[in-house]
Amino acid sequence: MKISILSLFPHMFDGFLNESIIKRAIEDKKIEIEVIDFREYTKDPHKKVDDTPYGGGAGMVLACQPIFDCVNAIKTPESKVIIMTPSGIPYKQAYAYDLSKEKHLIIICGHYEGFDERILSLADMEISIGDYVLTGGELPAMVITDSIVRLIPGVINEESHINDSFNDNFLLDYPTYTKPADYNGMKVPDILLSGDHKKIDEWRYQEALKKTQERRPDLLDK
Ligand code: ADE
Repeated sequence: MKISILSLFPHMFDGFLNESIIKRAIEDKKIEIEVIDFREYTKDPHKKVDDTPYGGGAGMVLACQPIFDCVNAIKTPESKVIIMTPSGIPYKQAYAYDLSKEKHLIIICGHYEGFDERILSLADMEISIGDYVLTGGELPAMVITDSIVRLIPGVINEESHINDSFNDNFLLDYPTYTKPADYNGMKVPDILLSGDHKKIDEWRYQEALKKTQERRPDLLDK
């Protein structure tokens, strides 16, 4: 799978792509990620990529030409185009699963006041990572890239995501502990030390259910 990220601030991705699991996935060729500065595609003599909004108003709006030319230069019949915007559909784990099966994702990061509306016609999906407004689409692009890459077979131990919160069972994660069994008087539940895996599975399920009922009852409605 390949992910092409279009951004005016490609260096924001340096740390993200050069640490930990994402770095290893790239080195192991499980994923190819390129970050393209779409300013390189502008035909404006001053390298401008934005302009003032028709009808007036604050801020600058990303113009059509650089983004259309960039997408058209890299798009293939297998590409799926995603635009990061706070007005997109709220992102969730189910989308991460679907997107992890695609061959080529093109993720467009906005900045400033937003996109010229005509740019949205390029998108197969407009995605928001939550009901808050960030300074640009770079962090949201990293969020969705991370959630997708970890689902690509061989990137992490598959058992690690079978139990993830937000999978089909719609339960939050059960509590986990590691050594020591007693840390400053805070004890690991006895059941986890019992070696009885049937009972442990049942306890974990009940704890996950309890946590979901307390914190995210909306997930149980599904
Ligand atoms: N760009 C700015 N804020 C955003 C958000 N919440 N989700 C996706 N893209 C954004």
